[in-house]
Amino acid sequence: MVTHKGKAFTKLLSASKIFVRVNELAAEIEKHYIGEALCVLSVLDGSFVFTSDLVRAFGRDVEVAFCKYSSYHGQKSSGKITEILPVPDSIAGKHVLIAEDIVDTGLTIKHIESIVRTKNAKSVRIASFLFKPTKLQTGTPPDFVGFEISDKFVIGYGMDYDGFGRNLAAIYQLRF
Ligand code: IMP
Ligand code: MG
Repeated sequence: MVTHKGKAFTKLLSASKIFVRVNELAAEIEKHYIGEALCVLSVLDGSFVFTSDLVRAFGRDVEVAFCKYSSYHGQKSSGKITEILPVPDSIAGKHVLIAEDIVDTGLTIKHIESIVRTKNAKSVRIASFLFKPTKLQTGTPPDFVGFEISDKFVIGYGMDYDGFGRNLAAIYQLRF
């Protein structure tokens, strides 16, 4: 268990379980891009850990690009999306795999996906480390999912609560 500002989080997914699943996911993803150039677009900040594990699990060459959109404050998504680091124009004509830490309402990923399409990517798919299917309000489920989880707030493996928990190697879930 870890605590921060009076909130307690219990372990949901161990580092070793995550390692196994991310390697499986990389193999699954690779099959879709055989013989094609691939650009992984990492959505900062939360997906920096997932992206680094995923791209290193690939047995192939991959380009990595970054973008940052803020949509989220405290424990609830705000629904308002602000561009902080835009999707680079250099994705035009490329197969793009968006790497996201977690899809909750789906609002953020839908927004980023539409920007990637507007910038003329050759194809767009989404890989999300975590997915809360019961919370999805918009768009379709991610093409590739590490783990489906319940509606509870989680931290670790890149994800934070109020700046806390990004460097935890396991996933922890808010108690109650
Ligand atoms: P959305 O509701 O799908 O738009 O989620 C937007 C963003 O909120 C995600 O990419 C995460 O960065 C963050 N987020 C959503 N749920 C959680 C959570 O349980 N823990 C930490 N961050 C979260
Ligand atoms: Mg995110």
